Amino acid sequence: MSAAPQIVTTVAELRHRIKALRQDDARIGLVPTMGALHAGHLALIQEMTKHVDVAVVSIFVNPTQFAPHEDFDHYPRTLMADAEKLGASGETDLIFAPSVGEMYPPGFATRIEMAGPAIGLESDCRPHFFSGVAVVVSKLLIAAMPDVAMFGEKDYQQLLVVRRMVSDLGLNIQIIGSPIVRERDGLAMSSRNAYLSIDDRMIAGQLNVIILSLIAELRDGAAISAVEESGKRALLEAGFSSVDYLAVRDAETLAPLTTLDRPARVLAAATVGKTRLLDNMAV
Ligand code: PAJ
Repeated sequence: MSAAPQIVTTVAELRHRIKALRQDDARIGLVPTMGALHAGHLALIQEMTKHVDVAVVSIFVNPTQFAPHEDFDHYPRTLMADAEKLGASGETDLIFAPSVGEMYPPGFATRIEMAGPAIGLESDCRPHFFSGVAVVVSKLLIAAMPDVAMFGEKDYQQLLVVRRMVSDLGLNIQIIGSPIVRERDGLAMSSRNAYLSIDDRMIAGQLNVIILSLIAELRDGAAISAVEESGKRALLEAGFSSVDYLAVRDAETLAPLTTLDRPARVLAAATVGKTRLLDNMAV
């Protein structure tokens, strides 16, 4: 087993380390995470090593993307176990694990408000969310100034929001999206899956099954609005307590679609027990 990668906790240290690595012309990659790492995160890092020489992973549970009633306080924080996992897989060179005070010093007053792909879906249920993600991701990108940053399709709308933001701000960083890593029964891996009881876990496994069946219906010519409605019903019948959205959208802009005349994506968010799950698939 390789040694765990070094952990730096300040932006100054991170910049210092990256500057030294750049002197050897190394290409730098960043995978932003909130920790509680699983195989989905590790796949992003592995994919990134195809594009860069040095892999930096940030681990920071970002308070600004949680609303007061959400799970910020209970979100799993497992830094030492995460560092060991990264050491065992041997692909990470540096971990950036700042404190909340390092990222948001007293008096912090900057907001980033996004339109375009940030409108609708997650924003309808979590209005604060993309503003928090945009601020923290831009801070992480500006701190590390990587050549490449990786984001998972698991959070498909987040990937599109980050792409848009990086392009709008003119940051010279390539954003690469990576496919969803799933459990054996198809459940998309997520740090929040740790919250699922045994019964909830059975129900959770139906989310991807239902999306797959909706995609089959769409490909057979079913109307989009009918598929969205039958999908919501199917989720509730499978035992989900609520469905925030189940929508067929333009895969590039997330605009609503009436016909399948361009690449489309089915996106869903539904709650089982106390756990809110996301999934999405290309049609
Ligand atoms: P987190 O949920 O820890 O996810 C970090 C990255 O891993 C995201 O890009 C996410 O899409 C990706 N990821 C998570 N589960 C995945 C899976 N099963 N398959 C593929 N990729 C997966 O997303 C966040 O953190 C935060 O919002 C962050 C971007 C770090 C900003 O705070």
